[in-house]
Amino acid sequence: MAIRSPIIVVLGHVDAGKTSLLDRIRNTSIINKEAGEMTQHIGATEVSIEVIKNISKTLLNIYKFELKIPSLLFIDTPGHEAFSNLRKRGGSVSDFAIIVVDILEGFQKQTYEAIEICKNLKIPFLIALNKIDRIDGWKPNNEKPFIETIKQQDQKVQAKLDEYVYNIVVKLYEFGFDSDRYDRIKDFRKQVAIIPLSARTGEGIPDLLLLISGLSQRFLEEKLKINVEGSGIGVILERKEEKGIGDVIDIILYDGRIKKGDKIAFLTRNGVKYAKIKSLLKPQNLTDIRFAKNKFNEINEVYAAAGIRIVADNLEDALPGSTIYVFNKDEELKDIENRLKADISDIIFNTDKEGIVVKSDTLGSLEVLTRLLKERNIPIKKADIGDIEKNDIDIALSMKEKNIEYAVIVGFNVRISKNAEDIVKNNNVKIIISDIIYDLAEKIDNYIKDIKS
Ligand code: GTP
Ligand code: MG
Repeated sequence: MAIRSPIIVVLGHVDAGKTSLLDRIRNTSIINKEAGEMTQHIGATEVSIEVIKNISKTLLNIYKFELKIPSLLFIDTPGHEAFSNLRKRGGSVSDFAIIVVDILEGFQKQTYEAIEICKNLKIPFLIALNKIDRIDGWKPNNEKPFIETIKQQDQKVQAKLDEYVYNIVVKLYEFGFDSDRYDRIKDFRKQVAIIPLSARTGEGIPDLLLLISGLSQRFLEEKLKINVEGSGIGVILERKEEKGIGDVIDIILYDGRIKKGDKIAFLTRNGVKYAKIKSLLKPQNLTDIRFAKNKFNEINEVYAAAGIRIVADNLEDALPGSTIYVFNKDEELKDIENRLKADISDIIFNTDKEGIVVKSDTLGSLEVLTRLLKERNIPIKKADIGDIEKNDIDIALSMKEKNIEYAVIVGFNVRISKNAEDIVKNNNVKIIISDIIYDLAEKIDNYIKDIKS
């Protein structure tokens, strides 16, 4: 058994500084490269533990613990789709989340969203309270740990920072989380850590990297133990057609290993499909990932955790968000097929029971949405991916006669399709749509209240 790298996802409101934070981590890693590796993956960046030790060495002298994980794998998730595709049955492939908050803005819409999702999927998280350099009177100390730079600030600035931290503590409390500035936390199992930092000056980044490494190896050790020689298991992030290559899928491998020539099984909208891997691609290691596009190296095998591109025939219907299993003996097939079918059966379904209709844009978001509804004891008749169609409206209309409160369609990040618009206009069907899950939950709660009053 080996310990694999924890998979870290970065979330937060638009402009909070997610990309800047990852860029900063990448740049700092490049500067510290002689200490170790910084490698580029599909949709992810891997920072080796040697680099982290180097960046955080003054802190390691204080906190003194042994780091056993090989590296941290950071996943860039521009937009909600990439994140919701990181699904795993009943949870997420992400082992840990960094929720980036702009210190001057505090909690914003997508911050609530990120916390709602982490809570729902049970992903441990911490808050990166970004842009501390913008606090009035802040004296920057580039690249310094937070616990050092804070001591060099005026009393007034220190008090101001604590005021901002306190606002976050109050917000998290509303979600049922106890939290504190990370250097004041006594029990990291019970409290959410808030790390003030700046992606611009690099202050607080050593604290962030060390804390994530420490927490993930301490609290996630069992989850990170894998048999590196075992059959690979991953998740499909994206499927696309590449000119001159054909269909490819980008996956995050989170267990075992995958080799060129391996057979894989995955979900499509019409059941389980199989393919044989023609080639495995990894981006070349370039210091600037913006040039990494289309520059790939072919590799023979890869171990978890890793982001990798797979080229094969038969991938055209591969469903993003589906688990992908490597299998080498046909005896394993039945079991894998059952697992894949079970995986989807409580996400996409159409029953003859009474209930509402739920539509969503991806497998992952549909899963979160159906769970939110179940928590509210709202029965679901049909759950599916895609825009709201005529057939969905017919179902909702048929509910009118049976149980008026179920004559509802709930949609996340979907639209009403053209040929369904007229029926909506001519009939009184309740449609609740939003592109923010948190909003949707609130709207559903209000709807239930209305119905009951
Ligand atoms: P989206 O990808 O659009 O959701 O935004 P993002 O969260 O990736 O934010 P991004 O990194 O693009 O940063 C948004 C703006 O904030 C940019 O103009 C950054 O230069 C600025 N910014 C990010 N971090 C800091 C920081 O620590 N200090 C200061 N002063 N500005 C920052
Ligand atoms: Mg960004």
